[in-house]
Amino acid sequence: MSEISFLGRVAVVTGSGGGLGKTYAIELARRGCAVVVNDLGGDRHGKGGSTSLADETVAEIKGFQGEAVANYDSVSTFEGGEAIIKTALEKYGKIDILIHNAGILRDRSFANMSAEEWHGVINVHLDGAFNVAKPAWLAMREKNYGRIVFTSSVSGLFGNFGQANYGAAKTGQVGLMHVLAIEGQKYGIKVNTISPAALTRMTEDLQRPEDRPDVDESPTHITPAVVFLASEQCQATSHIIHAGNGFFGRIQVAYNPGVFLGKTPVSVETFAENWDPITDTTEMAIQSPEERYMQYVLKKAAR
Ligand SMILES: NC(=O)c1ccc[n+]([C@@H]2O[C@H](COP(=O)([O-])OP(=O)(O)OC[C@H]3O[C@@H](n4cnc5c(N)ncnc54)[C@H](O)[C@@H]3O)[C@@H](O)[C@H]2O)c1
Repeated sequence: MSEISFLGRVAVVTGSGGGLGKTYAIELARRGCAVVVNDLGGDRHGKGGSTSLADETVAEIKGFQGEAVANYDSVSTFEGGEAIIKTALEKYGKIDILIHNAGILRDRSFANMSAEEWHGVINVHLDGAFNVAKPAWLAMREKNYGRIVFTSSVSGLFGNFGQANYGAAKTGQVGLMHVLAIEGQKYGIKVNTISPAALTRMTEDLQRPEDRPDVDESPTHITPAVVFLASEQCQATSHIIHAGNGFFGRIQVAYNPGVFLGKTPVSVETFAENWDPITDTTEMAIQSPEERYMQYVLKKAAR
């Protein structure tokens, strides 16, 4: 395959002062992309802030004569989101790629989770996705081109103890992706989501590499997937790609054949008696552009 180049492209990567985002920013810049390196520079719970994280990524990119500029605004407010995207528009004249990667953790069992812990996490991951995607969207639509990559997690897609706030925020981005993929179709905007798994400061005390000597948890295992999703060569949209430890795969919202129980509303008992065919997962399918789920349902219900 010919080399995937980003010459002439402009990207914003939120939370790219460290961890996964830093690897995305560096790889994009290595391939000729001008990158806005956004990072608030706080701790992994979202407390505090500093310019040093974003500055370090920019210095590394400048070190190999790449093009990058730092931005220290928070994704958690709309004004912050606008300022982040404005940095790209003012410095480079456009935005082709948005990777919303910024994130924090405030884990707690649901019984003990405070409203502050709930809202704090939703605010950075999900509101943050809106705050940067909205101004980026308007600029991308004008140019009839765009690539957006949101960040989900198996903790949200499949659930994980103590992460009600994080799981909801991470799955919320999937809903946003599906809608933007539809709305972006006629403007050449592809919208996809990465589900990463790697050892970073966010996960250092969640995962135990010493217990798993057989796997390599380096963040750079995620980079090729995200950089491809950000490229012109990526024609897919509405995809969730899982990457980690050298493994790559697709996770998707799917549906089973279901059953049509009649035009007259059925009793609760009839529903219960049909539980097995209603919930059977042996023949799952995913929605296609040719037949959307509601078209499938209505076709079956019209029999
Ligand atoms: N590491 C994993 O295994 C894993 C798994 C699933 C999902 N994720 C997701 O991947 C993304 C990157 O995580 P990571 O593991 O590299 O963690 P990380 O803590 O190293 O990186 C997150 C970055 O986001 C920045 N940030 C936080 N709040 C911000 C804000 N309001 N505005 C701007 N920047 C902000 C932080 O300063 C930090 O540099 C996150 O969205 C995380 O939820 C990571």
